[in-house]
Amino acid sequence: MAAWANRHKKIERNVTLLGALSLVVVAIGGIVEIAPLFWIESTVKHVEGVRPYTPLELAGRNIYIREGCYGCHSQMIRPFRDEVERYGHYSLAAESMYDHPFQWGSERTGPDLARVGGRYSDEWHVQHMKNPQSVVPESIMPKYAFLANRNLDTSRLGADLAALRKVGVPYTDEDIAKADEDARTQGFGEGDTAGLARRYPRVQARDFDGDPGRITEMDALVAYLQGLGTQIDFKSASAREATK
Ligand code: HEC
Repeated sequence: MAAWANRHKKIERNVTLLGALSLVVVAIGGIVEIAPLFWIESTVKHVEGVRPYTPLELAGRNIYIREGCYGCHSQMIRPFRDEVERYGHYSLAAESMYDHPFQWGSERTGPDLARVGGRYSDEWHVQHMKNPQSVVPESIMPKYAFLANRNLDTSRLGADLAALRKVGVPYTDEDIAKADEDARTQGFGEGDTAGLARRYPRVQARDFDGDPGRITEMDALVAYLQGLGTQIDFKSASAREATK
């Protein structure tokens, strides 16, 4: 016992030795935590229905990030009863597996948006984005009416998809080559909608902003919002399996 205490005293009184040994201990802890991640196939279980964003949804997501919507909105429903009753099924890791960067957020000045898709009509969203106080009088959300006047630049969406593929989102060569066309097909609701739906299951293709003649940033943002949280069918077996 005394010998052990003496040795410990030696370590405690020698700053260099203490530092070096601490480093060894911390390194072992770090390796134990980090190393397995390199060997297991994937840390996120794939759930049926989860697919990469369509080019139009992705454009909407870029606008969401550009406008800083995440400063007031989270996209992560925690597994607590009050949250699940208010927002729906708690978020699964798989639902943000193609999000780079993810939009979980840390601030809820406004409600969580992880499952806002399908909760309101397109008209409601457009009205709400243009003038939130006209539908929710006590709202403190800023107005984003200008989005309806700005044509969406679809020309760079292919490059966006290619960049995301580099970090692991499984876009195909066809997806990348057709990004511009796909965005138009989805936002006009006409063209090769069948081809779009084959590559992006359950895609919603229509005019979103009530201005059918052109594709605006409002189209993209509403397409993104209407898709949020709608990819997984929570009544299906694979979704139940994933939540176990
Ligand atoms: C200053 C904080 C703030 C910012 C920034 C903000 N919002 Fe909001 N948002 C709110 C508040 C507060 C509400 C709740 C009242 C309402 O419906 O307007 C809300 C509500 C919403 C809703 C309705 C959600 C529901 O379930 O009822 C949507 C959709 C939404 N915001 C989208 C956005 C988008 C998209 C952006 C970015 C372009 C954005 N918000 C930026 C504060 C904000």
